[in-house]
Amino acid sequence: MTPNNTVQQTALEIAPGVVVPMIGLGTWPLVGEDATDAVARGIAHGYRHVDTAQKYGNEDAVGEGIRRAGIERSELWVTSKLSLPGHSRTAVRTAYAEALDRLGLEYLDLFLIHWPNPQLDRYVETCVGLQELVHEGALRSWGVSNFKPAHLDRVAAAGLKPAVNQIQVDPHHLQRSQLEHNAALGIATAAYSPLGRAGKFLEHPAVTGPAAAHGKTPAQVVLRWHLDSGRIAVPKSASNDRQLENLNVFDFALTDGELSAIDALDTGAGPRLDANEYGH
Ligand SMILES: NC(=O)c1ccc[n+]([C@@H]2O[C@H](COP(=O)([O-])OP(=O)(O)OC[C@H]3O[C@@H](n4cnc5c(N)ncnc54)[C@H](OP(=O)(O)O)[C@@H]3O)[C@@H](O)[C@H]2O)c1
Repeated sequence: MTPNNTVQQTALEIAPGVVVPMIGLGTWPLVGEDATDAVARGIAHGYRHVDTAQKYGNEDAVGEGIRRAGIERSELWVTSKLSLPGHSRTAVRTAYAEALDRLGLEYLDLFLIHWPNPQLDRYVETCVGLQELVHEGALRSWGVSNFKPAHLDRVAAAGLKPAVNQIQVDPHHLQRSQLEHNAALGIATAAYSPLGRAGKFLEHPAVTGPAAAHGKTPAQVVLRWHLDSGRIAVPKSASNDRQLENLNVFDFALTDGELSAIDALDTGAGPRLDANEYGH
């Protein structure tokens, strides 16, 4: 399989000299050969960013897909996430070493705390441990996921700055105050479930109208809306056609009016899971 180097992708600098391709390939809930095959095909199609996690139970299979694709490690962005056992300044080192071992990689581009688990109350010291890994040159950048404003404020009060907060964002779940909080703290937002798991909004005229106007599909319009709003997005697809569709979003832009109309689809609903209640 020969990796495709022709897709000109939009990238975002999330820390000095650390530049992330803004569309990544989500890998949940793929496991085993399904995950390996999807990642290998995704990279061959031109993806240069892959999103996995300890919790997905697929880091080994994702690593195998990266090897199968035969891409230079330096050309690929790999994100993974740590779960509860990795929550402490020292445990995070073990979690990182184990993630690298499962993936068969020598470093990650981004390592995230998957959930804050505020009941355990170790996320601030876990951030310290992540920052130490970056300062030592073992890890390129660190961040968080599903962190609410109050969690981010405690991290910031400790003098720490995650590069990214990966949260659930789609046109029905805009999480405006969360987005504003990330931005105010200088934290890049990465949208998970960026297509709302093929949400109903894909049929709304605010999405289908621009799709017709730009000769794109509704999913491409929603992904472009994320990019034009400054967000990284990690859509998952195992299908060749939809992998290609989701990557083919770099040759058009939405107007301010089109962007505002999609913003207006927000229901005000919070994410599926509340980070004060759920975690792992
Ligand atoms: N940090 C977190 O807590 C967290 C939580 C959830 C997810 N994530 C990450 O975010 C990634 C994406 O989120 P997600 O999988 O929940 O949702 P998503 O990417 O919004 O949607 C994926 C679903 O939409 C379908 N799909 C993909 N492209 C499509 C297109 N162009 N048109 C129509 N349908 C399309 C996929 O099916 P096919 O595969 O058949 O195309 C799949 O069923 C995950 O894979 C994971 O890496 C992170």
